[in-house]
Amino acid sequence: MGFAALWDSLLPLGRCASTGGYRRYSWTEADSACRAWFSDQAQKRGLRLDCDRNGNLWAWWDCRGSPLGAIAVGSHLDSVPDGGAFDGPLGVVSAFAAIDALRERGFVPARPVTVAAFTEEEGGRFGLACLGSRLLTGAVAPDAARGLRDGGGVSLAEAMTAAGLEPARIGADKELLASLRAFVELHIEQGSALAGLGARVGIAEAIWAHGRWRLDFAGRADHAGTTRLADRRDPMLPFAATVLAAREIAARHHMLATFGKVTAAPGAVNAISSAVSGWLDARAPDEAALDAAVTEIRLVADAQAARHGGRCDISRESYTPRVEFDPGLRDRLAATLAASGISAPVLPTGAGHDAGILAAALPTAMLFVRNPTGVSHAPDEHAELADCEAGVTALAAVLEDLAGQ
Ligand code: GLV
Ligand code: MN
Ligand code: MN
Repeated sequence: MGFAALWDSLLPLGRCASTGGYRRYSWTEADSACRAWFSDQAQKRGLRLDCDRNGNLWAWWDCRGSPLGAIAVGSHLDSVPDGGAFDGPLGVVSAFAAIDALRERGFVPARPVTVAAFTEEEGGRFGLACLGSRLLTGAVAPDAARGLRDGGGVSLAEAMTAAGLEPARIGADKELLASLRAFVELHIEQGSALAGLGARVGIAEAIWAHGRWRLDFAGRADHAGTTRLADRRDPMLPFAATVLAAREIAARHHMLATFGKVTAAPGAVNAISSAVSGWLDARAPDEAALDAAVTEIRLVADAQAARHGGRCDISRESYTPRVEFDPGLRDRLAATLAASGISAPVLPTGAGHDAGILAAALPTAMLFVRNPTGVSHAPDEHAELADCEAGVTALAAVLEDLAGQ
């Protein structure tokens, strides 16, 4: 099947009619529709479907008699709240389309090929990005993962049980990892470097160090119309000061810091909050810059909380050191694409990916597809059809090389 038809078959699933964004959170109805789509695509192609102990999906193009490790391709199907259509799904759809292209030209793999869709890459429901690949590689402890809770208080264990999985079995899967030789994740570029360079596809060099921190500011609830300013212990004020400071600190350290999620309790318009929680997403080219900046932000939060008569508790929810993709595999991709006449610049990225987590266990690489505006994690995220098709051509060439004789 061509890329366009395959793409269109996934497009309506989990899209919010009012915003045009996607709400594909793990173990929800939208997620189950995406999983059914994946299983349907596997079945249509005669690929063997497997759901591993951590809920990651695999569609295997088996290679009878081959003792060789498989080449895995794919990405994820979940989204951030009101995310775009491409982040994740482009890699999965392109993987199926690349297999179709290879089969059309009679390619017979010398080793297995498998299409993966990892669970909860975005951390959109349970807060921990790359949850499925972290569990697979042992980067998160099963007990800690089982205890993660969504905004409504449902634990991962409860959500998985409701979806028919066995949370008691989650955790590192050495056998599955040992069956893989390499993982290549194709992804929409989350920036506009390729557009600037006039290239349709690129190759990832490295992923910046990044992490998420939860800041809980405690204060004292009171009446908005009667409490004198001098008598207030309003946690919104140290939070606001910390947001502004984070921006200034990030600029000074040449890194990025974002508060994209905030809750105020109890949430009354006419009351001073008793507590404000803000989630900091911070990313930097290296760990030293990231750690230095987060330490500064932490000091500001503590000082501001004290100044306003309150307290700030900070907890780290996730941390991923800088990841350099396997140089040998990266060079091999570059050589393959160059031999196919595809010019593919090598780029670093600040975005996290399952390929970055799997890099600790096996050689991984990434291909990026041009994003004309660079917008991502938002409904306006876009890639032109011709560029997506160029991505499929590039991925097929890479698969032909890596899984060939
Ligand atoms: C995932 O896309 C992330 O970088 O947060
Ligand atoms: Mn993303
Ligand atoms: Mn992604």
